Amino acid sequence: MSDYAGRGRLAGKVALITGGARGQGAEEGRLFAAEGATVILTDVLEEVGGQSAAEIGAEFLVHDVGDEAAWETVVADVIAHHGRLDVLVNNAGIFQPKQLLKTSVEDWDRTIRINQVGVFLGLKVGGRAMIEAGNGGSIVNISSVAGMEGVFGSMAYGASKWAVRGMTKVAAKEFGRDGIRVNSVHPGIIETDMVSGMPAMSDDAKRERLARSLPVGRLGTPTDIANLVLFLASEESGFCTGQEFVIDGGTFR
Ligand SMILES: NC(=O)c1ccc[n+]([C@@H]2O[C@H](COP(=O)([O-])OP(=O)(O)OC[C@H]3O[C@@H](n4cnc5c(N)ncnc54)[C@H](O)[C@@H]3O)[C@@H](O)[C@H]2O)c1
Repeated sequence: MSDYAGRGRLAGKVALITGGARGQGAEEGRLFAAEGATVILTDVLEEVGGQSAAEIGAEFLVHDVGDEAAWETVVADVIAHHGRLDVLVNNAGIFQPKQLLKTSVEDWDRTIRINQVGVFLGLKVGGRAMIEAGNGGSIVNISSVAGMEGVFGSMAYGASKWAVRGMTKVAAKEFGRDGIRVNSVHPGIIETDMVSGMPAMSDDAKRERLARSLPVGRLGTPTDIANLVLFLASEESGFCTGQEFVIDGGTFR
């Protein structure tokens, strides 16, 4: 976690970050709050989410991103309390590594429901609230390098993350005239709970070997991602929309 002091880059903005209880989402919340935003973290992990929010002076709401009614409740709550929504980070996601022949329809549905339908609902319900508030906004969708290329053993995950990339481009075109920008972020391996169970991360020697295999010689951190998401959330990226931002230590292509 970063102890960055901030320069008011999101002063006056209201930002909602899904999957914000831990990992990248929590770090984005920390940076956003340091930059002057009012931050609302949402997640299915109530206790951890409440703690993370308390640490950074944010609000926390329980929220399953695959549930449309829950999206309506969360966004209505934000508008009722703050009157606007300026930034939405569709960050919540799950990763269940499985090869194609071992992927059941149940595995498929669970991953698609959270990673893909969750982002679709965020774009729909969050985007509508931004349009109604009339202040424009920035939506950042967290995809993956698995949404840029085929990654072995990630059939459902890869499908969901490619979909995030595609939905980003459609939404950018549809929301552009309302002053709402939509971009996708494509991290490589970032040290969070999501990947801590991967064989390549299971001990220090393996993690070190993996880190040395990257052009930059180290693994990614939540702060690496949060810095890019902050740029996309802020008006510094005002001419960027419908684009994909790969952030993987130099591995892709
Ligand atoms: N860690 C990586 O290497 C990596 C690489 C590429 C992309 N990503 C993506 O980055 C995003 C953040 O992941 P992370 O690395 O911080 O992992 P993480 O597991 O620490 O965080 C994901 C968060 O999403 C929450 N979540 C899961 N299902 C949810 C649901 N139905 N509704 C609301 N919240 C839910 C989890 O509780 C968790 O807090 C994810 O979209 C992930 O796919 C991660």
